[in-house]
Amino acid sequence: MSRYRIAWLPGDGIGQEVCEAARVVLDAAGFAADYLPGDIGWEYWRREGDALPARTLDLLRQTDCAFFGAITSKPASVAVRELAPELRDRGLTYRSPIVRMRQMLDLYVCLRPCRAFPGNPLNYRENIDLVVFRENTEGMYIGVEFPRIPQEFRVVPAMAQLPDGAAISIRSVTYGASRRIVEAAFEYAVKRGRRKVTAVHKANVLRATCGVFLEAAQEVAGRYPQIEFDTANVDAMSMWLLKNPLNYDVIVTTNLFGDILSDLCAQMVGGMGFAYSGNIGDAYAVFEPTHGSAPKYAGQYRVNPLATILAAGMMLEWLGEVDKAGEIERAVSEVVAQGATRTYDMGGNAGTMDVAHAVAACLQHTHAAR
Ligand code: IPM
Ligand code: MG
Repeated sequence: MSRYRIAWLPGDGIGQEVCEAARVVLDAAGFAADYLPGDIGWEYWRREGDALPARTLDLLRQTDCAFFGAITSKPASVAVRELAPELRDRGLTYRSPIVRMRQMLDLYVCLRPCRAFPGNPLNYRENIDLVVFRENTEGMYIGVEFPRIPQEFRVVPAMAQLPDGAAISIRSVTYGASRRIVEAAFEYAVKRGRRKVTAVHKANVLRATCGVFLEAAQEVAGRYPQIEFDTANVDAMSMWLLKNPLNYDVIVTTNLFGDILSDLCAQMVGGMGFAYSGNIGDAYAVFEPTHGSAPKYAGQYRVNPLATILAAGMMLEWLGEVDKAGEIERAVSEVVAQGATRTYDMGGNAGTMDVAHAVAACLQHTHAAR
């Protein structure tokens, strides 16, 4: 059997310890892989002016997929101040490495399952089982931004009316990118026996960009008559999700709305300790816990590693190791239900590695029972 090659990118802060926890579980699942460590994160921004160095991009090209922990991101002005002195006046701008990977590798699906594990004391309601499909390459994330509107833009009448000194961020939405994310959501619904897809937008105000998204969503939905389809404005959706989370199933939306709604959905099933993502393209994927690097907890081995462990499960599934993926998810579910090993966010006092070993022990029972 050929071994998988995984780019291993723990990154900053707690990224290190949650990835260590995930490794314990991957090993216990009997997953045979070579883990190739890659440089990514704040340290490389400071020292080299690039948080995602070219050698790391090369590593991504030579591996089956990547596993990513977390990264520290600071506001633009702080980022420049923290650069090594010799790099400071080169006009470098910091851009989030995860956003860059999503765009450079065309990882157009951001898949974020939010499932209430039975017995999780943090569940907002039992039985919540939502999946967010977030468009991952365009929208408000294209990075076309101007702290002050450039003079040359003023030739466009609508731009001429903007106040002097207005900062602008451009939102770009294409029919093609909208269509493929909605297709991914429907294909997932079909394969997983899901009943409904909801496309979320704000087309009553963002007529151009959300108009295109909605048009594409409607076209795709027409090809899947067996799946119920509805649409909702993002503001109303936030309200309804809280009111009736069980009415929703698969949610598909543009980049920034997906960023926001996926945090809302995550909070309903236990918060960032349970929020994990697959950034998935046609040929490559990057799996990650959705949380940040939490500098104040770094090195303490206190944070909840379950999101990272679930991300590892999702990675195995994407690689075609479906049985092992299922075993990991079941083991997590069992540890949550038993309630003996819980990190502080769940009201317990177990450490990060205690949780990893508890999940690993469940996996070993599964294997022993065979
Ligand atoms: C996420 C995060 C990122 C995003 C940040 C870290 C750039 O919030 O993955 O949801 O905005 O996409
Ligand atoms: Mg986010």
